Amino acid sequence: MPVTIVVGAQWGDEGKGRVADWLARESDGIARYAGGDNAGHTVIVGDAVFKLHLVPSGVVHSDKKCFLGNGMVINPVRLVSELDMLAERGIDISPDRIHLSPRAHVITPGHMELDGAADKARGKDAIGTTKRGIGLAYTDKATRVGLLTGEMADAEQFADAVQHSIEQANIILQSKYGAPPMDAVELVAEYAEAARRLQPYLADTNALIHDMLEADQRLLCEGAQGTLLDIDHGHYPFVTSSNATTGGAMTGLGFGPHYVDRVIGVVKAYCTRVGNGPFPTELLDETGEQLRQAGHEFGTTTGRPRRCGWLDMVALKYAIRVNGFNELVLSKMDVLGGMAEIKIATAYELDGKPITNMPLDTAAMERAQPVYEAVPGWDADISGARVMADLPEATQRYIKRIEELSGVKVMMVSVGPERDQAVQL
Ligand code: IMP
Repeated sequence: MPVTIVVGAQWGDEGKGRVADWLARESDGIARYAGGDNAGHTVIVGDAVFKLHLVPSGVVHSDKKCFLGNGMVINPVRLVSELDMLAERGIDISPDRIHLSPRAHVITPGHMELDGAADKARGKDAIGTTKRGIGLAYTDKATRVGLLTGEMADAEQFADAVQHSIEQANIILQSKYGAPPMDAVELVAEYAEAARRLQPYLADTNALIHDMLEADQRLLCEGAQGTLLDIDHGHYPFVTSSNATTGGAMTGLGFGPHYVDRVIGVVKAYCTRVGNGPFPTELLDETGEQLRQAGHEFGTTTGRPRRCGWLDMVALKYAIRVNGFNELVLSKMDVLGGMAEIKIATAYELDGKPITNMPLDTAAMERAQPVYEAVPGWDADISGARVMADLPEATQRYIKRIEELSGVKVMMVSVGPERDQAVQL
């Protein structure tokens, strides 16, 4: 069974890029299956920091194949600039190894502009989207008026379709939001040029992936966002517009579950969330600020400060159920250094009653109050630890406690941003 799926177990930003980079070493191909450039995956190799939004993190390994699956939404201009950035830094971006599904959907300038206008119009109920046009591109996909990446094969026809999309968006921008229209000329030319550049990358990713799987080569599926941002499994409407969870890998690439043997949940040692929506363990105090500063908790894509809080076991158990995780990676353990005490939410209190199942109703989740268990912290710098025995006893106890409460084995703990700063268990 040659497939590993890596999924964020919380609200995104768990450090999936780095885990994918690690696991890529034992994979033949790496695939993104959902979302678009709302994602921001960071991979650090020596002095080089790669911030990737569309191309799978495994691209930094030059001998691996990379796939952008049909479940994704693609901004062609941003994809071209990401490929150019990689090429400038010596990464092989040849179309022999990077393949874009012709059945992904295109994010047009109209989608981006409408995303911003619509979220602004929501006022205090804003989702706080990344304004990358994600929701609008998936809306067009679902209503069957979307633009497929495959249409880039004919750049002139594609330009006409982008022009049409901008004109349609301009009508809504002006009539519904009182916003100025976009000037189509430059945008259309830019999209047409990007289409020409991307033509060689268009390939039947489904067939290529199946050839790999049939040859028993390993495929790593790199999730974007996180379980609690999944359109079906997060707290609607404070979600993204795709299936970030395990199931999304199968629909977003097109293979059956019998190929999958490893489902790895990436869990930050505490919790963060960007944008609005329920977050029971959020810390609006000095401890929250300490986590934000120590963990550099500012969005890779938007630069927004992330909301920070303690690890939420109620939400994690839900994520384990939804995804079927059989292994966990704990990330950013080093950030907790210096805390006298660390808390884990093991239950919630909802309207005066204790509960251990995460409420699915968004308003109920907003009212849920965390019930904490406290464990001792540690004061040592653990960034040099490489095996469990290098870690202070309190850190080891925290890891063991997470395993006990979750019922899932931890396979790796990251203790710093660099590739080798990890403890293998
Ligand atoms: P959208 O995906 O841009 O529509 O944003 C919907 C919600 O998901 C907002 O709360 C975003 O902040 C959040 N979101 C989207 N992508 C990411 C991500 O990669 N990391 C963390 N949050 C994200």
